[in-house]
Amino acid sequence: LISNVSLRRVLDSRGNPTVEADVLTESGGFGRAAAPSGASTGEYEAIELPPSEAIASARRHAIPRLVGEVHAGNQREVDAALRAADGTDDFSEIGANSAVAISMAAAKAGADVLGAPLYQHLGGTFRGENFPIPLGNVVGGGEHAKEATHIQEFLAAPVGAPSVSEAVFANAAVHARASEILDERGTPAAKGDEGAWAPPISDAEAFEVMDQAVSDTEDELGFEIRFGLDMAAAELYDEEEDGYVYGDEVKSTDEQIEYVADLVDEYELVYVEDPLDENDYEGFAELTDRVGDRTLICGDDLFVTNVERLQDGIDADAANSILIKPNQIGTLSDAFDAIELANRNGYETIISHRSGETEDTTIAHLAVATDAAFIKTGTVQGERTAKLNELIRIADDAV
Ligand code: PGA
Ligand code: ZN
Repeated sequence: LISNVSLRRVLDSRGNPTVEADVLTESGGFGRAAAPSGASTGEYEAIELPPSEAIASARRHAIPRLVGEVHAGNQREVDAALRAADGTDDFSEIGANSAVAISMAAAKAGADVLGAPLYQHLGGTFRGENFPIPLGNVVGGGEHAKEATHIQEFLAAPVGAPSVSEAVFANAAVHARASEILDERGTPAAKGDEGAWAPPISDAEAFEVMDQAVSDTEDELGFEIRFGLDMAAAELYDEEEDGYVYGDEVKSTDEQIEYVADLVDEYELVYVEDPLDENDYEGFAELTDRVGDRTLICGDDLFVTNVERLQDGIDADAANSILIKPNQIGTLSDAFDAIELANRNGYETIISHRSGETEDTTIAHLAVATDAAFIKTGTVQGERTAKLNELIRIADDAV
């Protein structure tokens, strides 16, 4: 049984406070995890409270339902206790940040009790042998950097890499090459929140830089590397303009669909996340119908790791893949439910970090445990490399 849960404020990668949880069990198991935090958050995400409020509320409502009551290894019971303690649909009482930190810390304590690595506790002994391909954020802007591209993320996708480790290093090589290309073009760049280059250039120029960085690295390494995007289009969409705002230019929904479909073909994009507003299932469906046979159309803000929103998307043929962020929904069990629903309906899953992160590595284990097609967790920078290096260790059986 869980014998103690402690909560504290720790720093995230943006310098903001976030919630960290420690879970102890009577048999001496220990797990620690911290909540990440988004900047381009979806309208329908579970609620993140100010960390001190979330901690006070979880101490009052959740901890009494966990300590001496629930086994850390029984994830469904832990997460049901968190739901019951909260009593709302969106974790607005104890905060999704407290909930997800406790949920993930309990999973680690459960794994510790078993003496098994976390991915095995979560995925079972007979989990697949596939490893996720890391999507590496190389160039970007949006809500993650000032005065940079409108499109939030240009993501390297080393689809031909023979191993996880080679894929991780390939993304780092694309990132380094992009920096050289930007220097050559006279636009040295700062970095955004996730460590991607955030140059003051147009989206069209960013496509040129990315295309060249990817093909140069592909030539150097000798395996296929493609790229994709997170457009985070809910941040571009303006209700009053009824369109997508790119600086002085506004694209109607039809023009946005046309634009994205052309980009998919011109750059052979393998992945496009949130190409349309988070309320536009119809626009998503039209785009998926046009290009879904040759690229992944992924819902992040659209689905927010929520089974009901995903089911709506499945019914509408809105996409063919879903981004999974445990803190969007609040518990690992809820994230697993979304992954299972996706798998049953032929949707690919992409496990993802947030723009505000900590050294926590839970998502690396989650991606391996669930046989996710991709993991999106940055390219360089400590809070990102924590996950990437953990993936390398998992592949090496060294966790
Ligand atoms: P966020 O961005 O963590 O700031 O929401 C990541 C994403 O949109 O995928
Ligand atoms: Zn996104």
